[in-house]
Amino acid sequence: MATIRMDSLIKSIAAALDIVEIGLLGASTNHGKRIAVLCAQMGKFLGKNTEEITALAVCALLHDSALTEYIISEKAGEDHDTAMKKHCEIGQQNVDALCFKTNVKDFVLYHHEHADGSGPFGIREGEGSLEAELITIADSIDVAHHLQKLEPEELPVIRNIIINETGKHYSKKAAQTMLEILDLPTLLSLKDDVIKQTALVSLSPWIVDIQTETVFGLAGFVAKIIDYKSVFTKKHSTQIADKAWFMGKYYQYKPQELAELYLAASLHDLGKLAVPSDILEKPGKLTDEEFEIIKQHIRLTWELLNEVEGLETICQWASNHHEKLDGSGYPFGKKASELDFNSRLLTCLDIYQAISEERPYHPGRSHGDTMLILNEMADTGKIDKDIVKDINLALAPYDGKDLPPPDNYR
Ligand SMILES: [Fe+2]
Ligand SMILES: [Fe+2]
Ligand SMILES: [Fe+2]
Ligand SMILES: [Fe+2]
Repeated sequence: MATIRMDSLIKSIAAALDIVEIGLLGASTNHGKRIAVLCAQMGKFLGKNTEEITALAVCALLHDSALTEYIISEKAGEDHDTAMKKHCEIGQQNVDALCFKTNVKDFVLYHHEHADGSGPFGIREGEGSLEAELITIADSIDVAHHLQKLEPEELPVIRNIIINETGKHYSKKAAQTMLEILDLPTLLSLKDDVIKQTALVSLSPWIVDIQTETVFGLAGFVAKIIDYKSVFTKKHSTQIADKAWFMGKYYQYKPQELAELYLAASLHDLGKLAVPSDILEKPGKLTDEEFEIIKQHIRLTWELLNEVEGLETICQWASNHHEKLDGSGYPFGKKASELDFNSRLLTCLDIYQAISEERPYHPGRSHGDTMLILNEMADTGKIDKDIVKDINLALAPYDGKDLPPPDNYR
């Protein structure tokens, strides 16, 4: 049985989301981790058990997971309230997909509510879950006061703000709990140079089998987050994951390898969250400088996934997707001997998807037109000839159209 450290994978995903959040809210890196640490401490103070604390801390870590949807929604001209509600609703769907053993109802849905009912859904103190109120208070004081930079002498000021906002922004119970745990040691443990370590000790290990609904749920929603980054890539990762699953079935992979390939495909462009949308959506040719920025996305995918215990092979497959057999790929310039079958397969599927889907610089293409380009690349020794042949046979019936998601998932 192959297991992975979910807590550590989720931390890596949260780190990628943090990068998006800096651009959007000006909140600095590690925001998600700080909210998770504060919530875990509040959960402990309130006497919750390990499973409940894990669920609360993971929801806190991912409370802003629907950030890319929020950006798209604002860009589409939707008003702030509608965009905010969507951000909360999709964020809740994302954590629901993780199939926690304990109840996480409303934890993320109501993380922008105010105790006096003036939040987006008009939920008052006590009408939602206490956990949502805990995430709300941790989130709001961190965004407003940048806890990682706060000087010890400013702590009493924050405590006074919390007291003043009780009953207005914060519920009584959440404010009391926060005041109990927000002391000087806690504040110091949130600084950027120690937060990783703090997060490591405050979150319990959460180890799961790769073939569980939890992992599939995570793969699905992370792929969607990445895809939402740009209107032009809105089904890129989910389609590559679906095509990887389809090809894995074609090759009669055992369930474990199939699950691993699906996760690698879902996460392959994780680092794209750090690429500015105006570069991703640029209609014309990219400058050398812009292309260098795009190339960085794989390094980041590698860095984020490489930290996760149990994800070594998946990290390799995911971060080899722009390598070429003749060594002309990036970022590592690997050669054929260093690229295993699934790395080669993901490279081919990434190219297939990029060519067949609509992009700012080209319309969507049929299977036949897509194969012309893939065959040419195979003929010049860049990608695997046999895999290209298999893809041609297996995907022809879909003629460049979307594949359905794997049965039972998403
Ligand atoms: Fe939020
Ligand atoms: Fe936040
Ligand atoms: Fe990529
Ligand atoms: Fe890609």
